[in-house]
Amino acid sequence: MRVDDIFAEALVDLGAEDTRFRGILTPASAVGAAKVGVTAQFLDNAEAYHRAYLDVAYWRYLIDNALAAAHDLGEPATIIDIGSGSGNSVLPLADRFPDATIVATDISPQLLAILRDFIVKRADRPQRFGLVAADASAANYRAGVADLAVGAAILHHILDPALVLASCHRALRPGGWAIFFEPFEAGNVILKLTYQRVLAQASAAERKTEGMRFLERMVADYTVRQRPRSDPIFRELDDKWMFTRSYFERIRDEQGWAELIVYPLNAADTPLHNQAAVHLKLGAALPPDALPAWAWAVIDETDGGMSPDLKREWMQEGAVLFRKRPAP
Ligand SMILES: C[S@@+](CC[C@H](N)C(=O)[O-])C[C@H]1O[C@@H](n2cnc3c(N)ncnc32)[C@H](O)[C@@H]1O
Repeated sequence: MRVDDIFAEALVDLGAEDTRFRGILTPASAVGAAKVGVTAQFLDNAEAYHRAYLDVAYWRYLIDNALAAAHDLGEPATIIDIGSGSGNSVLPLADRFPDATIVATDISPQLLAILRDFIVKRADRPQRFGLVAADASAANYRAGVADLAVGAAILHHILDPALVLASCHRALRPGGWAIFFEPFEAGNVILKLTYQRVLAQASAAERKTEGMRFLERMVADYTVRQRPRSDPIFRELDDKWMFTRSYFERIRDEQGWAELIVYPLNAADTPLHNQAAVHLKLGAALPPDALPAWAWAVIDETDGGMSPDLKREWMQEGAVLFRKRPAP
């Protein structure tokens, strides 16, 4: 399958306008279009984002687990990766399916250019990769062209994720799978409440430390994301959604998917403790001891108050797998 055959409209090379983006295609209708709902983090600051978040080994682990859950997938010949960024999911997919054509799509040509430079260095057939700069909510794929669609941490960035799922449903062949990895509301709301509890117990001097100031920013960030979906503020935010299982169940029923599987990504005895440590590290480059021992005790107490089942149900991050109805 050629990249041009995946999309229902003509693709043009962005390199004609800007040599930095040579080899990155875009639908003709997207040339010059405003990039709505995405900030400089993924565009002009792409290099810094790539350095902070490149973790192919972690994504390989998540993708392998999800592929094990996607029963009857077979050996996909054509894979569309949605919101590929600089390649955290594309590279594991390329290794796992060495004969597949992989179309990596993203709204950011800057991130795709970083991925392109990785791919051309790979020994195995760079021509089996396509790089397409496209808004996932407007992507116009031909019907039934793909065996598998994968989106690693993409849906929560989209103003209306149902549009992305509808376009995947169209693009997939009968029986094909769409696999996503996304944040979930329940676990994150518990984390927000726990951070608020820590902040309420902190002294005035402790509130001025870097760790506590970071918790304040996290609480503010969560609070904005809990505003009604109609709020125009979401156009200014990169992180827009925290999902519920019910949201995806509604989409399954409305769009006619045959199957939906949702499971937690990081099931653990101490999910809040683990996630708080990740937040400090990735959000502010802070070590765990940026918070005092008593703050960790508050977090651990909340972890200790939940049964193993509840910890799984109240996940912070989850895999979401949709299967298109197989042919009769
Ligand atoms: C959290 S990053 C994940 C990137 C990559 N999948 C990974 O795991 O490293 C989210 C990605 O979504 C892209 N993105 C944001 N809004 C988008 C949109 N409307 N259409 C397509 N991609 C979008 C960003 O440019 C960014 O690459």
